[in-house]
Amino acid sequence: MKSARKSEQLKILLRRRAIEQRVRQMGRQISADFRGERLHLIGVLKGASIFLSDLIREIRLEVSLDFIAVASYGQSTRSSGQVRLTKDLDNSIEGLHTILVEDILDTGRTINYLQRVISQRKPRSLHVATLLSKSGRRVTEVRPDYVGFEIPNEFVVGYGLDYAERYRNLRDICILKLPGDVQPHPQPIHR
Ligand code: PRP
Repeated sequence: MKSARKSEQLKILLRRRAIEQRVRQMGRQISADFRGERLHLIGVLKGASIFLSDLIREIRLEVSLDFIAVASYGQSTRSSGQVRLTKDLDNSIEGLHTILVEDILDTGRTINYLQRVISQRKPRSLHVATLLSKSGRRVTEVRPDYVGFEIPNEFVVGYGLDYAERYRNLRDICILKLPGDVQPHPQPIHR
């Protein structure tokens, strides 16, 4: 695949068809698990916005959505630091079945923090759906309820995931090789 910068190489890891199929399956599973209930999805900006917009259309229930955003304290990467909220929810989630929707679970720090913050808001239930998971990179215990794909410890972009804010618009999920790259490459060097 052609990359925006000549020195950066992209290799497809997950094709758009495979992603589409898996997101459909996840939507069906969620619809079955919450049959007859109202559901509230919370997307973690910005990466999860693409996944969430596809996932929500595969859910056959009454469903609403909101977004939340986080950043890390004084560190250049989220994976190395503590997390803080930069955009809170717009609406109350009290009494709602909620699902936190992520594009990727890496160290687990973001979701771990958000689970703590959100459970204080008294949702009826709180689950986690992530399209991608790098289980080998966890530094904190997180048990996602819905996982699209387990992936190796490679730096991935596309379908919402960025490198320096680029590549979010790729339909496939690709491994990005940077010039002089030493593998394996940690994921969150996005900022
Ligand atoms: C990515 C991803 C998750 C987080 C996962 O966000 O979208 O929110 O990192 O990493 P963790 O499990 O190590 O906490 P990123 O910092 O790239 O922000 P973005 O979604 O705005 O691109």
